[in-house]
Amino acid sequence: MARITASPPLQDAYTDALPASHALFDRARRVFPDAVTHDNRRMQPFPLYVERADGACKWDVDGRQYIDYWMGHGALLLGHNPPAVREAVREQAMRGTHYGACHEKEVEWGEWVCRLVPSAERIRFTASGTEATHMAVRLARAFTGKSHIVKFAGHFHGWHEGLEIGVRAPYEAEPEAGQLREVVDLVSVLPPDDIAAVRERLARRDVAAVILEPTGGHFGTIPLPASFARALREETRRADALLIFDEVVTGFRVAPGGAQELFGVTPDLTTLAKILAGGLPGGAVAGRADVLSFLSTKASAEENRRSKIAHPGTFNANPLSAAAGVAMLAQVAGGEKIRVANAQAAKLRHGLNEILARERIAWKVYGESSDWKIFFGADAPPRDGADQSVAQIEWRRLDGKFPEQSRALRQALILNGVDFNGARALVGTCHTDDVIAETLAAFETAVRAVKDEGLA
Ligand SMILES: Cc1ncc(COP(=O)(O)O)c(C=O)c1O
Repeated sequence: MARITASPPLQDAYTDALPASHALFDRARRVFPDAVTHDNRRMQPFPLYVERADGACKWDVDGRQYIDYWMGHGALLLGHNPPAVREAVREQAMRGTHYGACHEKEVEWGEWVCRLVPSAERIRFTASGTEATHMAVRLARAFTGKSHIVKFAGHFHGWHEGLEIGVRAPYEAEPEAGQLREVVDLVSVLPPDDIAAVRERLARRDVAAVILEPTGGHFGTIPLPASFARALREETRRADALLIFDEVVTGFRVAPGGAQELFGVTPDLTTLAKILAGGLPGGAVAGRADVLSFLSTKASAEENRRSKIAHPGTFNANPLSAAAGVAMLAQVAGGEKIRVANAQAAKLRHGLNEILARERIAWKVYGESSDWKIFFGADAPPRDGADQSVAQIEWRRLDGKFPEQSRALRQALILNGVDFNGARALVGTCHTDDVIAETLAAFETAVRAVKDEGLA
């Protein structure tokens, strides 16, 4: 007799297949809020617990193997454990993990960034991307003497209270739990790609900086054309405001010098993390020497109070991250690895859309450079496997959440040996043609299962 259950069949199959993950989740629930250590790792009915990873794959505590499209939340471009990075980290670990002192690797790491990133005249390392955007905002306020910040709806710049504003619908600059209204009121959240709104806001001449994800919110989930970045460059210059490119994801991924190299637009400040540190923790703010001079010590205590931002940080440029970062940047510098990852992502987008077309499923896979995203709200199936333009879809819809489809597809893909975050996927050089063929086979089976659940 059929089991009577309130939960969907995919959810039951998932629960049955992953008993060891389930058991860890039960322990985690007693330790962590939501049982997780990063909001985006929540999953219904419980997340996957991973034991090890190598190349394109990771293995969970139940011994199951997955092709991975999280790629370390974007920190990995060469797959898991690329030999050059692994060896650099191993060698560094043998020499110590924290000197409480300056060291040669941090200098080398900084030199790499200044060579590759067009805006980087000077750089200061931080321990994360969140710290980097926090520092960039302080630098902009110190340099300009102005207090307001312009950001864009749906753009994410880390979780500190100064910028975790207008990221999600309804995209308002309203304080959320624990946020001070005084801080939120200093941030204007403007619609993405509306240069007239930016011009109007800048005309008040109280804006210290405009910050954006240069390829669009959530790494181009709400895509932005290069022309918008160019227009922002002109408008900020005219208004004596700084332009900050948050290249935490795009840095060293869309080009060796990031989106600023790709677009030919040089911002005043750039924030970096993820690939920067080769899969280990690390971030940086880089940019104009005169702006970063607000991190330099001045001649008198009085001058320091006015024009020196204090910046300690136990793990700034820690030797392990520096070693991994140097090894990683040396690999991406020539651009060939980026071209390979881009080409593999394009093949994936094409193949995934072909499957959606064949299955007559009205979703669309899209993206640029080394990623693919899935939009569950399309009105018609893709016509063929060509990359789908989503330009005609209103940005609020594009950023919309489809929790049931996302849950079901993610569960179905996991059951078929593929893991992605439920809406977006990052691609690396590890996703070879064989891995792509396996992914497409898994996707075909998975979308049929989602259809069977009545969600496609
Ligand atoms: C564009 C962007 N900026 C900043 C951050 C925050 O970086 P971190 O997670 O290292 O604090 C992220 C993280 O995903 C990001 O995508």
